[in-house]
Amino acid sequence: MDWKQSMQVCIQEVETALEEYMPKQETFPPVIFDAMRYSLFAGGKRLRPVMVLAACEAVGGDRKQAMPFACAIEMIHTYSLIHDDLPAMDNDDMRRNRPTNHKVYGEDIAILAGDGLLHHAMQTMAQACFQEPNKRTTGAMLAIAKGAGVDGMLTGQAVDVYMEGKPLDAQTLDFIHVHKTAAMIRGALEAGAAVGGADEKMIALFGLAGEKIGVAFQILDDILDVTATEAELGKPIHSDEKNQKTTYVTLYGIEKSREIAAQLTQQAVELLEQLGEKGAFLQALTKYLLQRTY
Ligand code: IPE
Ligand code: IPE
Ligand code: MG
Ligand code: MG
Ligand code: MG
Repeated sequence: MDWKQSMQVCIQEVETALEEYMPKQETFPPVIFDAMRYSLFAGGKRLRPVMVLAACEAVGGDRKQAMPFACAIEMIHTYSLIHDDLPAMDNDDMRRNRPTNHKVYGEDIAILAGDGLLHHAMQTMAQACFQEPNKRTTGAMLAIAKGAGVDGMLTGQAVDVYMEGKPLDAQTLDFIHVHKTAAMIRGALEAGAAVGGADEKMIALFGLAGEKIGVAFQILDDILDVTATEAELGKPIHSDEKNQKTTYVTLYGIEKSREIAAQLTQQAVELLEQLGEKGAFLQALTKYLLQRTY
């Protein structure tokens, strides 16, 4: 099996597990149940959960043990997208090839669907920690909670919206990208390594690689916002210009942005090379992300 086939297998396992971990219909009022599922099962790339599973295996762990954490990070990521699209934030109408959550369910339910996914992610991880209380499981939960919260995505999103329409220097832009996007990718790799039994030094290596992959990922997102089509992305293009965001493209131009993303990718690959053959899948995925068209 080549790495792309392994990736498809991983994604299929994640889809099945997400169905298992999501609340059952009878426990929720239908509208919130439907709204949570509407965005979660809309065909996202599932990169973060795949990274959790891959990091776990790269340190010799069993990926089944990583699955609750993989699913939780996808729930949190999906919540962040629902809220990111709200009129009060980026005000976008399409996501994952569908009208955005608030377009279908209204802003009130979209806010609650996002909250619901976040809370359910925490419940899913806490349940896994409760069933197997040890440093591996609690370390994984800690990494994901940090990646999502005030040490990570939440703070990046806050600075991102606060700085709309204001002049912004390179250092602040890096702060935004490191937090709003890279922190969750860092969290995914750290969580996978932790639940797989890695020691602190090894977890730190995954964290550093994750940060570089994550910043490169957001640089590509900034580039695709101006070079791709809505049909390719499944979300509106020129969203950043509409919202007067400073991005890598506005600060450095497309060519220089690609160069910086390539450098970060190379640095991440070099870190992952320290894992030997076990790191091959993550290396291939990291290189692929630089070439992505959606
Ligand atoms: C979009 O993430 C938001 C960013 C952090 C750039 P993805 O590009 O991973 O979106 P999905 O999960 O495939 O929809
Ligand atoms: C958002 O960055 C990152 C999140 C934490 C959701 P963007 O606002 O650029 O993401 P897209 O382009 O809407 O997916
Ligand atoms: Mg945004
Ligand atoms: Mg957005
Ligand atoms: Mg974007």
